[in-house]
Amino acid sequence: MSTPVNIAGLRQHAQRRLPRMFFDYIDGGAFSEATLRCNEVDFDALALRPQILRDVSRRDLSVSVLGQKQSLPLILGPVGFAGMFWKEGEVAANRAAAAAGIPFCLSTMSICPVKRVSASAERPVWFQSYILRDRGLSKALLDRAAACGVTVVVVTVDTAVSGLREKDVANGFRLASRLGPRAMLDLARHPSWCWQIAGRGMPLLGNFPAETGATLMSQSQRITANIDPALTWADLAELRTNWPGKLIVKGIMTADDAERALDVGADAIVVSNHGGRQLDGAPSTISVLRRIVERVAGRAEVLLDGGIRRGSQVVKALALGADAVLLGRAYAFGLAAEGEAGVSRAIEMIATEIDITLALMGFNSVAELRAAGLDAFEKTEGRP
Ligand SMILES: Cc1cc2nc3c(=O)[nH]c(=O)nc-3n(C[C@H](O)[C@H](O)[C@H](O)COP(=O)(O)O)c2cc1C
Repeated sequence: MSTPVNIAGLRQHAQRRLPRMFFDYIDGGAFSEATLRCNEVDFDALALRPQILRDVSRRDLSVSVLGQKQSLPLILGPVGFAGMFWKEGEVAANRAAAAAGIPFCLSTMSICPVKRVSASAERPVWFQSYILRDRGLSKALLDRAAACGVTVVVVTVDTAVSGLREKDVANGFRLASRLGPRAMLDLARHPSWCWQIAGRGMPLLGNFPAETGATLMSQSQRITANIDPALTWADLAELRTNWPGKLIVKGIMTADDAERALDVGADAIVVSNHGGRQLDGAPSTISVLRRIVERVAGRAEVLLDGGIRRGSQVVKALALGADAVLLGRAYAFGLAAEGEAGVSRAIEMIATEIDITLALMGFNSVAELRAAGLDAFEKTEGRP
């Protein structure tokens, strides 16, 4: 297979290396995958405005998020089971993020525990959490994260119930507490993956106690079922009162919900539809960003994820007012393809594309791009 030159290439390598059920778990979306598709496609409707002869020799891609400078407008977002894509995958991703000077957000559903991941690089990790029915377990997770130096918590709020991904259903992924014969055959067809990941038995979720299950699948089923469908804004307000660090609310898709998140005291929000993995039929994140940014009006930081595979997409999100974007599948493919080197490669690919795109648009920095706002777009039908 040829050396990957873009995220699509990393995806192909990931597909080849991973057992099908793990590749499909990364790649798939809910039901008809309409939202998954429009997350990417809707970027294409926006045309960027080229500007020439403007001295773009001093380019700077750095931004500041939650008071911390970072070298690129990128964050590695929470991706569950990353340690099943590569041995110690969460450590690999964290190291790649730290080397690139950007934050890494660890998923609650990680294989490596937060203690091990946070000790693996100098830069503090962010920690993603759900509010569980078992509030004691939720609190224990946050306490442990805080004890490991975490000061930024990302609370995911778009999972009142779990979205149904039909590829996962077909593969029997997470639906049974033990793997069936088809899944076992799938694993057996990938001996190098088995050797690396499951050589000494299947790993477990690292942040949960043994009582949550004896196998990865049973643990995962139990925790997913423990996400509280009765949650309301009052629960988020309570978490805000009890969490002394920064709070990011992930999964906001309307200006009204953004307003409520600010009322509760969020320091930042993530405009996200969970990468098209939850509500199929929801709009793309890029199509709702502008309205949300206008309502937030600088009172909190606005991040975005969903469909980012190219630097030009990052540029479009920044021009529409996002402070930075989260990568999901883009780095998960890199991780599955080549471990830490693959995550670094994914970040580098997108960074290079942002750099070239900015220069050809006549901008030296993200600040200049953001100041241009809607003027960064060509006045075509696609102009927002
Ligand atoms: C394999 C996979 C696992 C994910 N696990 C989590 C998770 O544990 N917690 C969470 O808040 N979001 C999770 N997400 C959603 C991502 O954080 C992010 O919102 C989404 O991937 C962005 O879309 P993109 O992958 O198209 O960039 C996951 C996404 C993927 C692809």
